[in-house]
Amino acid sequence: MWSIYVAYLTVLPFATAGVTAVNAIRSRDYAPSFSQEGSCQQACETFASEYPGRLHYEDVDTNFTIWDQKQLQTVYVCRVEPESASEVSNIVQVLVDNWCRFAVKCGGHSRYPDDSVSVGGVTIDLGLINSTVVSDDRTTAIVGGGALTRQVFAALDPYGLAYVGGRVGQVGMGGFTLGGGTSVLAAKYGWALDSVLEYEIVLPNATIATVSETQHPDLYYALRGGGNNFGIVTSFNVTVFPQGQVYTGSRTFGDDQTDRFLEEAEKVFTIEDAEDTNVVLEYRYAYSAAQDRYTMSSTQRYAEPVSNPPAFDAMNAIPALNNLSGGITSLAASTSFSGPLGRTRNIFASLTHYPSVELGKRAILIFKDNVLSLGNVTGVNPELITYSIPAAAIENMRARGGNALGIDVQGHLVINLLSVSWSNSTNDGAAYSFADRFIEDFRRAAERLDVLHPFIYINYANKGQDVFSGYGEENKKKLIAIQESIDPRGVFTSSGLWPGFFKVR
Ligand SMILES: Cc1cc2nc3c(=O)[nH]c(=O)nc-3n(C[C@H](O)[C@H](O)[C@H](O)COP(=O)(O)OP(=O)(O)OC[C@H]3O[C@@H](n4cnc5c(N)ncnc54)[C@H](O)[C@@H]3O)c2cc1C
Ligand SMILES: *[C@@H]1O[C@H](CO)[C@@H](O)[C@H](O)[C@H]1NC(C)=O
Ligand SMILES: *[C@@H]1O[C@H](CO)[C@@H](O)[C@H](O)[C@H]1NC(C)=O
Ligand SMILES: *[C@@H]1O[C@H](CO)[C@@H](O)[C@H](O)[C@H]1NC(C)=O
Ligand SMILES: *[C@@H]1O[C@H](CO)[C@@H](O)[C@H](O)[C@H]1NC(C)=O
Ligand SMILES: *[C@@H]1O[C@H](CO)[C@@H](O)[C@H](O)[C@H]1NC(C)=O
Ligand SMILES: *[C@@H]1O[C@H](CO)[C@@H](O)[C@H](O)[C@H]1NC(C)=O
Ligand SMILES: *[C@@H]1O[C@H](CO)[C@@H](O)[C@H](O)[C@H]1NC(C)=O
Repeated sequence: MWSIYVAYLTVLPFATAGVTAVNAIRSRDYAPSFSQEGSCQQACETFASEYPGRLHYEDVDTNFTIWDQKQLQTVYVCRVEPESASEVSNIVQVLVDNWCRFAVKCGGHSRYPDDSVSVGGVTIDLGLINSTVVSDDRTTAIVGGGALTRQVFAALDPYGLAYVGGRVGQVGMGGFTLGGGTSVLAAKYGWALDSVLEYEIVLPNATIATVSETQHPDLYYALRGGGNNFGIVTSFNVTVFPQGQVYTGSRTFGDDQTDRFLEEAEKVFTIEDAEDTNVVLEYRYAYSAAQDRYTMSSTQRYAEPVSNPPAFDAMNAIPALNNLSGGITSLAASTSFSGPLGRTRNIFASLTHYPSVELGKRAILIFKDNVLSLGNVTGVNPELITYSIPAAAIENMRARGGNALGIDVQGHLVINLLSVSWSNSTNDGAAYSFADRFIEDFRRAAERLDVLHPFIYINYANKGQDVFSGYGEENKKKLIAIQESIDPRGVFTSSGLWPGFFKVR
């Protein structure tokens, strides 16, 4: 069975071997509730004459596909594929002139209509802006704003280089990096947003600007965590570094070992902080309705080609359901998989807390309570995925004036992604209320134990989670002020032309 979660955490290529190609469902559920077709029709006609072959009307755009089935079912007017920053600039100008709504797509791994596919407007698909060019001194690379993780790793691999990229090859550079970007290399090199030295960006007035610590420093701060509020990034100048093969292993534990597992996991996070930044651990707690059982699966990693690193010995002394399996591979190979999209409906929700094994244990109980209250709804698959924001990554967030995330603590934090997937729209309500109830109960438990951290990772957040307040009131105010100053008409805001994803105003 195809599971994004297998791909998500167990990135070895063999993990995704039984995938069968099935055409994605293309019924169109998400039609706009307003009529905008006139102004967008005009814009689309302009693009059709300017970019022949790269303008697709929705009704004949049969090759278009995207990860989330809800987004795949979103009805837009047309999709345009620019090839350069100047084309993006022209597209923004035409959209503003016609006052036509739009959405911007990079890797398309968001969960809601309008996040990356426009509801009733124009979808700007950055997919052709996907080159990676390494600098002569091999310390930086210019990566296109529409590149996919696997394309970047593949381009850097022949040089023996890597960048702070994600775990799954089909995820986009754009959304990943603008929101934060957690990587298996985070303890060594920080989160992706702090590895960006310069952005090339199309602003609300269609100007192309270069943004860095010295040019538009306010925007430089805002782009490190501010998401899609400030412009369309056409390229990222990122640091790259020599990187060889890495180790990835997986092991699954039965529910009777969960408490012991959580105790060992917290020790591993501490080893990563204090002794060895090559050590990486992610784990996921999941319910299988088919088997009616709960399991705890670990993904154990080492950022060097070392098999069975001793940091995981204590964890692997816990009785498990299977033997440790895994191997050594390059990041280019482990992210190279490219599979069918649009098969599942998904929702994410997130919570961050200070280290607390006690809260980890309560989260499991809360998860089970909420699975029970799903009743006999089958086909809704919830998973709780957990890992650390390493101390060194947090330290690195102070570089070059600091980013907008508002994370400033000693030691590490623990980040949680609740991921729910299903495939029948009749289960939408059950899935949404599962996510809402779980996060609310989890948040209250964290507050009671006094270990809640307000940060909510934008790339894992649910609609309705107040991401920007989680950055702290100061940072939120700063972001709003910067947004207002570059975008007085509110073109890139929820009341303007670019309403999707998380808007600061
Ligand atoms: C299977 C899977 C694995 C994941 N793994 C990780 C992981 O390892 N680490 C991690 O941190 N996160 C991970 N994520 C979360 C991921 O970072 C977010 O979903 C991210 O927003 C996806 O970016 P995208 O470009 O693929 O999606 P998109 O939907 O294309 O983009 C997300 C948002 O960013 C905007 N955007 C994208 N590109 C640009 C641009 N160039 N300029 C301006 N705005 C832009 C879009 O308009 C959209 O609103 C994962 C998600 C999934 C589904
Ligand atoms: C879809 O892609 C195929 C293969 O690249 C191409 O031949 C075909 O023309 C495309 N169809 C449309 C409608 O663009
Ligand atoms: C990336 O930005 C840095 C710092 O501004 C600069 O020194 C470097 O030349 C840039 N890299 C490329 C490939 O342009
Ligand atoms: C960029 O995207 C195009 C179209 O999908 C693809 O053919 C090309 O190989 C990609 N380039 C890189 C460097 O990945
Ligand atoms: C692990 O492997 C050994 C032999 O290599 C085997 O005897 C044992 O049953 C396996 N354990 C599990 C849980 O699969
Ligand atoms: C689920 O179904 C089983 C038997 O099919 C039944 O005994 C149980 O009460 C149902 N649970 C809920 C919450 O509806
Ligand atoms: C979705 O669920 C409904 C109600 O249970 C059912 O009638 C329908 O056939 C299901 N659709 C698919 C595609 O399985
Ligand atoms: C566009 O906006 C930027 C940022 O506010 C500003 O610096 C620039 O002068 C503007 N350009 C034009 C042509 O108005």
